[in-house]
Amino acid sequence: MPDRRITRRSALIGMALSSAWAASPARALTSAADKRDVPGFVNDLIARMTIEEKAGQLTLMASAWGGSSATALNPPGKGSNFDQQVADAAAGKLTGVFNGNGAAMAQRMQSAVMAHSRLKIPLIFAADVIHGHRTIFPVPVGEAASFEPELATRTARVAAFEAAGSGIDWTFAPMVDIARDQRWGRSMEGAGEDVLLGRLFAAARVRGFQGTDLAANDAMLACAKHFAAYGAAEAGLDYSTVDVSERTLREVYFPPFQAAFDAGCGTTMASFNEISGVPSTANHWLLTDLLRDEWHFPGLVVSDYTGDEELIAHGVAADGREAARLAIMAGVDMSMQSNLYWLHLPGLVKDGLVPIERVDQAVRRVLATKAMVGLFDDPFRRIDLAREKSRSLLPASRKLAREAATKSIVMLKNAGAVLPLDKAARVALIGPFGTGPQDVIGGWNVYGDDHVAVDLATGLREAGGAVTVVRGCDVHSAIPGGIDQAVAAAKGADVVLLAIGESQDMSGEAQSRADIGVPAAQVALAEALVATGKPVVVLLRNGRGLALQAPVQAAAAILVTWFPGTEGGHAIADVVYGAVSPSGRLPVSFPYATGQEPYHYDHKATGRPQPDGPLQPYKAHYRDLPDAALYPFGHGLTYGDVVYSDLRLSTTQIGAGEAITITATLTNSGRHAVEEVAQMYIHTRSASVSRPVRELKAFQKIALAPGQSAQAQFRLTRADCAFIGQANRPVVEPGTIDLWVAASAQDAGLHGQFTIIT
Ligand code: NOJ
Repeated sequence: MPDRRITRRSALIGMALSSAWAASPARALTSAADKRDVPGFVNDLIARMTIEEKAGQLTLMASAWGGSSATALNPPGKGSNFDQQVADAAAGKLTGVFNGNGAAMAQRMQSAVMAHSRLKIPLIFAADVIHGHRTIFPVPVGEAASFEPELATRTARVAAFEAAGSGIDWTFAPMVDIARDQRWGRSMEGAGEDVLLGRLFAAARVRGFQGTDLAANDAMLACAKHFAAYGAAEAGLDYSTVDVSERTLREVYFPPFQAAFDAGCGTTMASFNEISGVPSTANHWLLTDLLRDEWHFPGLVVSDYTGDEELIAHGVAADGREAARLAIMAGVDMSMQSNLYWLHLPGLVKDGLVPIERVDQAVRRVLATKAMVGLFDDPFRRIDLAREKSRSLLPASRKLAREAATKSIVMLKNAGAVLPLDKAARVALIGPFGTGPQDVIGGWNVYGDDHVAVDLATGLREAGGAVTVVRGCDVHSAIPGGIDQAVAAAKGADVVLLAIGESQDMSGEAQSRADIGVPAAQVALAEALVATGKPVVVLLRNGRGLALQAPVQAAAAILVTWFPGTEGGHAIADVVYGAVSPSGRLPVSFPYATGQEPYHYDHKATGRPQPDGPLQPYKAHYRDLPDAALYPFGHGLTYGDVVYSDLRLSTTQIGAGEAITITATLTNSGRHAVEEVAQMYIHTRSASVSRPVRELKAFQKIALAPGQSAQAQFRLTRADCAFIGQANRPVVEPGTIDLWVAASAQDAGLHGQFTIIT
């Protein structure tokens, strides 16, 4: 509950302090400067700062307000040290805080700083607004399944509208890490395994968060994270060692960051992991040689949470002082949560171990960032208690959440066209995810509220479905009599909807899994239900690609619903009852077994590829499994039946500066309107470095009414065929390129070829 006493009081204080701010030294400098001439006033301000004030501007801490999970506007809890944190902020020890609880907190802190700090440099308020603020959209990997980057721009816009409305200036999003190993729980937070999808969604989300005017009160600064290769952790173990080649960094892990920066992303976060022995937080090559000198990134680098302090555990720093020195000298401008910069920078500068110029450079970036988001013009520009409420969970936002969730759903299988269901069908809704507010909105949301989310049972019933609900088992364990009750319910129904998979705490940060199957208790339930002979439709709840066990695979139909967000139940009902045809495509491959991980469709051929057909000795294959995905990247069925034909290439040769146009005809020979995602892949047959068996180069989502044909059209330039060559720089080499227009990374589709000539 909001604390009205504090709220009213701080509102008044805020008003008074806006005028105090107008007369402050920092304000005097900013108004003297041309608004476009930000560096001028920033440098003047830096000239007036003590080394302690500078260290404070480089120190970000978690908010000590009353907690930070799914609560709105709650006041500081008993025993909280929030008052101490306010005093620290006013004493210039902090640049801002993150993951606090809204406008009331921001107003208390900003007011104190404006009233009592020497230079009155506004605080910046940050938060992990990952897939929505109050209105929660599908988890990012689910949203990427829409193959509709523009959708991600729209959802990020709403997230910014709500979050900036509650005092947040800066989101620690988007996460743009490529996830080629589904054991890694943070696969949930990104756009999946593919580089093109990763680039497009990175840029789309940045555009949505930042809008067209970063200083607007409905825009927030974005942060592309985690720089870099965080998703390449050995064995999918979060935080673990990364050792990938520079070529793979440049070809796979860096491009989404470059796309985010090209879209104007103002900040990036150094990743926790090491790369080849050097933790990112201490990696001068990564954060300075590459990021600044080669890419000319003008923005701010923040550490991850205690990332600098963790240099000690990594074994590259002896103590906190050395850790701080390594981090700032590598290029980390702002230290998150360890307080090491505050503690050690003054001494390090005094002892000549860190040049003051490097500190000033970091402070300049921080102040320029604060200026960019409009804080020097008005420190209270995003802090408005009324706006915080009036922007929260608006009907239009919920409508968008329903659209996004609907588009995120991927139909893996639909044997006998069991879906869509007739509303008259008697449905037994079984499984641990059938009812209840938990596990609908998904992890990594700080401000979402389970209790305003629509669960499956509610969604199905509101759609007019006749639904009997039986739990059957818990996420990880059987419940007494659970299977018997479930089987009885199935026998009395026409169809079983089986809601199984992962709970939301099973994916996300530190949620690596050594077995990415459905938990055993749920598999036993699936087995018993399939044995009834009733049609079983599995509704998967998941934050990663899963290795589905045989009883789950045996279901008649399987829908991947991810963690669908606030409107999840409505969206799933829309697809189950056929109001909308499923249109999502897998952004991550579903392997046959966990042992195949890391699995990604764009792997290399090896020198001994297994040909189609029976297994041959001494070829690259497993004894016990196909060397392929059960459901590959790009896979997803619709209620229609789309046939691909008539592939045409505008030319068979691409010379310097030329491009090729590729067309194919798509015909919906089914009885339902659909949206088909046509995908265009290439493979370079022979080059100076080996190339993936397929690489996605373009895709197009096409609406097709029953019986309708339409043309998919792609343009491929010579530059699109570039890759990272032996010298670790992009090259285009002459040679033959295979091309497919297909429905997934493993679909034979339509095949053509062309040649790149010198
Ligand atoms: C650690 C996570 O790795 C990062 O993604 C997040 O932004 C910070 N904590 C702050 O919550």
